[in-house]
Amino acid sequence: MDGLDELKLRIMDQVAQADDEAALEAVRVSSLGKKGEVSLKVRALGGMSAEERQQAGPALNALKDEVATAIAARRADLAAAALEARLASEWVDVSQPARVRRRGSIHPVSQVTEEVIAIFADLGYSVAEGPQVETDFYNFDALNIPAEHPTRTEMDTFYLHRAEGDNRPPHVLRTHTSPVQIRHMEAHGAPCQIIAPGRVYRADYDQTHTPMFHQVEGLAIGKDISMANLKWTLEEFCRAFFEVDEIELRFRASHFPFTEPSAEVDIRCSWAGGQLKIGEGDDWMEILGSGMVHPKVLQASGVDPDLWQGFAFGIGIDRLAMLKYGIPDLRAFFDSDLRWLRHYGFRALDVPATGA
Ligand code: DAH
Repeated sequence: MDGLDELKLRIMDQVAQADDEAALEAVRVSSLGKKGEVSLKVRALGGMSAEERQQAGPALNALKDEVATAIAARRADLAAAALEARLASEWVDVSQPARVRRRGSIHPVSQVTEEVIAIFADLGYSVAEGPQVETDFYNFDALNIPAEHPTRTEMDTFYLHRAEGDNRPPHVLRTHTSPVQIRHMEAHGAPCQIIAPGRVYRADYDQTHTPMFHQVEGLAIGKDISMANLKWTLEEFCRAFFEVDEIELRFRASHFPFTEPSAEVDIRCSWAGGQLKIGEGDDWMEILGSGMVHPKVLQASGVDPDLWQGFAFGIGIDRLAMLKYGIPDLRAFFDSDLRWLRHYGFRALDVPATGA
């Protein structure tokens, strides 16, 4: 058939020139599409004589197949090239270090708690725990704070709601860690050397008070433990905690129902230039309450006060953190402000300072 060779060359050339999917599709439409050149010729077979058709038909069909095969092959080549290009542009170097992510940090309260535990562990103390929801027996009565004692109101206690007719003893959010003394001696007797860090609650809120804060209780019971041992222990602790060799503590007579005698302890410090320095200067800062455990407290815990005696102390953990790390406002501790946490927080792998 006339011109078929020429047509074939032209289409094959267009196929080879098509350099993307869209151009190739245009070639397919213009050759094999409904009104494509090849299709029109195939349709024209209908108007031919049987003889002409016999001659032209096979040649046209062969052309149609060749064009279709060439387009399919070109399409496969283009797809492979496109994939190749994409792989080249979107590659990822998996050997590169990971992008630096924002790191979490250790809250100063957790950090200081760990430091306190580490220091007392060196002095032979183990950690004891008690519930934060306490009965008023453990929080008050067993600690020699009877009902009507002014301390109960001074401590701004949170009482848990009781349904009417519920006659179980009242529960409170513990106002101090001292009830852990009772629970520990009840369970393990004497002698003992424990500290009990944890959360405590009081209805109070200003720059130095929050309704929830942290204390660490200390308790050492033995046959001949005295006030002198208490003084040595607290000095050792302060020296290690504040990382200052020369520290000076002042014991001020005080009153706590659960100790006799009782002492509040101040540490020598200086505020020169608005900066707190421990161990020098002419100021004193109160850091804890302490004393010799009251015989009634031993009795309430099932420990015979004629055989055993010892000391106890209670320190504010948040207060320690403020002093050691120069943090001015207690309320910010519990605001969950990420900027504050990033500034005052500690790296996860920081080893607690023990002064050793
Ligand atoms: N429980 C007291 C408070 O919260 C602190 C305290 C004082 C604890 C003297 C003691 C202690 O163990 O002996 O204010």
